[in-house]
Amino acid sequence: MKGLFSRNGRVLPYRRAMVSALDRGFLYGDSAYETLRSYEGRPFLFREHWRRLRASCARLGISFPWKRDAQEAFVVGLLKRARLKSAHVRIIVTRGEGAIRMAPERGLRPNLLYYVQLFTPLPASLYRRGAAVALVGLRRNPIESLDPRIKSSNLLNNVLASIQAGRRRALEALMLNSAGDLVEGASSNLFLVRHGVVLTPPLSEGLLGGITRAIVFRIARREKIEIRERVLGERALRHCDEAFITSTLKEILPVRSCNGRLLGNGRPGPVTQRLGCAFQRFRDKWICRASGR
Ligand code: PDD
Repeated sequence: MKGLFSRNGRVLPYRRAMVSALDRGFLYGDSAYETLRSYEGRPFLFREHWRRLRASCARLGISFPWKRDAQEAFVVGLLKRARLKSAHVRIIVTRGEGAIRMAPERGLRPNLLYYVQLFTPLPASLYRRGAAVALVGLRRNPIESLDPRIKSSNLLNNVLASIQAGRRRALEALMLNSAGDLVEGASSNLFLVRHGVVLTPPLSEGLLGGITRAIVFRIARREKIEIRERVLGERALRHCDEAFITSTLKEILPVRSCNGRLLGNGRPGPVTQRLGCAFQRFRDKWICRASGR
């Protein structure tokens, strides 16, 4: 695997990535993370990801002593050293190493981990034809439990949902919240289009405030496409004209079917396509600015 790993500034080959078996991130999933893309060796939307990471740590009570600019420069250096321009970057902050007991001791020192590896895109045909998703039985955890708005690495619920989707040959698992309303995918946000209006569940329903989701709001407004946050029951899937999911790694991915049933006419619709093109323009402009072209 081409790539590098770093733990608190110490750089290792990717395949030698390691933390202590006493790290609470390993023992309890007691950590927060971010997934980023890099283009032309620059971490895309680093500022937004760093802000969300800091917010996740604050909600988890994990101390966060690092400065953004220095860390961004460190990631740029890591990508350069790994000779990677188009990379998949993961940042993890764990609460640190301690005794094996549920309540953490005081004064633990958090660990900051970076993983950079070559980005492998999904097949282009998926973007042309749309992906299959599955609405699984597992529910997203309620905001009164581990709030899905915190990007924590405690993800076993989502892992099990993804396994269920994989068994049904679906690329992504869609989940309902405990009230039975649609919330998001196991690792993506969900959007439906009905009568030309883009609809997506509000964060208060219990879902991650995706960075790509926020970009979709920005570009939809710029494109004069109406976009609304709306509680969406399971039935909304049956009545939509188009659907798509978003994430850092998938960007805007059209959805063709859910549980084997076509959504709309099963082809990427005009609103999804327009947003997809607008997203590419937004990203390309950002790359030009970041690489000083
Ligand atoms: N996942 N919802 C969940 C539960 C996610 O895990 C993700 C991202 C998203 C989309 O967020 P963003 O647009 O900020 O990537 C929504 C990342 C890609 C991951 O788990 O690696």
